[in-house]
This record gives sequence, structure tokens and C-alpha cells, in this order.
Amino acid sequence: MIDLTGRTALVTGGARGIGKAIGLNLAREGADVAFVDVGRPEVAEATVAEIQGLGRRALYIPADVTDPDACVAAVAAVVEAFGKLDILVNNAGITRDDLIMRMSVENWKKVLEVNLFGAFYMTKAAIRPMLKARYGRIVNMASVSGQMGQAGQANYSASKAGLIALTKTTAREIGSRHITCNAVAPGFVMTELTKDMNPEILDYFLKMTPLARFGTTDDVANAVTFLVSEEASYITGQVLAVDGGMVMQ
Ligand SMILES: NC(=O)c1ccc[n+]([C@@H]2O[C@H](COP(=O)([O-])OP(=O)(O)OC[C@H]3O[C@@H](n4cnc5c(N)ncnc54)[C@H](O)[C@@H]3O)[C@@H](O)[C@H]2O)c1
Repeated sequence: MIDLTGRTALVTGGARGIGKAIGLNLAREGADVAFVDVGRPEVAEATVAEIQGLGRRALYIPADVTDPDACVAAVAAVVEAFGKLDILVNNAGITRDDLIMRMSVENWKKVLEVNLFGAFYMTKAAIRPMLKARYGRIVNMASVSGQMGQAGQANYSASKAGLIALTKTTAREIGSRHITCNAVAPGFVMTELTKDMNPEILDYFLKMTPLARFGTTDDVANAVTFLVSEEASYITGQVLAVDGGMVMQ
């Protein structure tokens, strides 16, 4: 049975959507949860209240993962507040979809900066206390788009594929210190990120999904919770698909 009592976690983009579900799930299993986010403070405060409602300590850090110094400060704030950092979930992500011919260089860079560079900055900052403690769990939020590519998502798909390579490299570099690093690759999950998607694309995703439904934020959070648990202590460098069978490797 999963038990995260005494564990502390930092979730990026944890105010809403999948990140919020992850934070709540970890708190339900006993972990204290901090999160960074750039969204509306009132949304973040509501999430803090929900985590505290589960009897756990919660910490909201208004920080942007594209700022390396802010990432270092966020990790320091968690260690200061909770005494240590056991779990890092690099979940913050954005889309700026367009076909390559029309995609602006600015939107190409922005998505890479948030989804991939942000995860690197956070990982770099978080492994310092983890190495010292000789314990850690890192989970990176990838996507089916990073595995199979997606028309209109060159920036997003490249960022998620990069995240998978970062996951494997991190796993190889720090495995000997009992720190695991894995990725979760969700299929389609209805959130603020995806709610305005073209109905034709939604239909296409559904047809490609053997389980014939979209995923929920809890489907993804459950996979993350498993990967950060003791039960997953011999699993590292893996990509766990939570996609209803869309991508089979
Ligand atoms: N929704 C899906 O179908 C789906 C599928 C596959 C992967 N994902 C991935 O799951 C993750 C969460 O997606 P979601 O659907 O919950 O999206 P969401 O937009 O609902 O939530 C993302 C959160 O990240 C925060 N954020 C954005 N940029 C940030 C930054 N620079 N620094 C700190 N926080 C930042 C946002 O404020 C927001 O709270 C993303 O990495 C996304 O790529 C989502």
C-alpha cells in the first residue's frame, strides 16, 4: 500500500489541472506539498486550502520555472519550510500550437523554455538536497506528443521528447544515490490547457484510444503517486504511458 507519510514534494504548475491533482493525491497519501506556479494567485490559494484540508502542510511559491534563480530559490524555500525535499514533479507546461511554416520563433522558444528548460533548472536545483539525503524521486510530465509527434505541435512535441531524454539521463547520473527519475506520458486529458481544442482533433484522439475515453487528471496523478512511492523503488528511466493505449511501445 502506498504510504508517503513524512515525505515532502514540490510540484511545478501545481495550482490547477494535472499538477493540482498530483499535489492532492500526494497529500492524500501523507506527503506535505509545495508547488510553484505563475497563474492567478487566488487559484493557487484555493489549492493550498484543499491540501491543508487533507491535514498536510502546503506551500505556494509564486515562481516561473523559466527563471533558473527562481528555481533555486523555490527549492531552498521548500527545504526551509519542510526540512527536506524528497519528491520533485516537473509538471508545468504550456502549448503554443501552429504549423511549422507559421510557427513564430518566439513561440518555438517559449514552449521549449517552459516545458524543457524549466524542468532542467528545477532538476538541477532539486538534486542538490536529494544527493545529500541520498534519496529522491523525480517525475517529469511528458506527453504522447513527445513519443509520436503531433501536427501543429513541433515546439510542444520537441519539448516533451527532450524531457524523455532528460529523464533517462537524470536516471543514469543519479541512480547510484537512490534517486529515481521517470516520466509519465499522458494522452488526452481535459484541462484548461486542452479545453479549446478543435472538436475534429478531439474525435481523432478518441478514435486512436483503445480504451475509448479521455484521461482524467486523477488517472495521471495515480501514476505519478505510484512512481514516487517505495513500491516503485526499482523503477527508473522509464516512460509510463497514461493514455488509454494510444501509444504502445
Ligand atoms: N491536458 C492534457 O491533455 C495533457 C496531455 C499530456 C501532457 N500534459 C502535460 O501535463 C502538464 C499539465 O498540463 P495541464 O493540462 O494540467 O495544464 P494546465 O494549463 O491546466 O496547468 C498547467 C499549470 O502550469 C502553470 N505554469 C505554466 N507555465 C508556468 C511557468 N513558466 N512556471 C510555473 N508554472 C507554470 C500554469 O499556471 C498552470 O497552473 C503539462 O506539462 C502538459 O504538457 C497534459
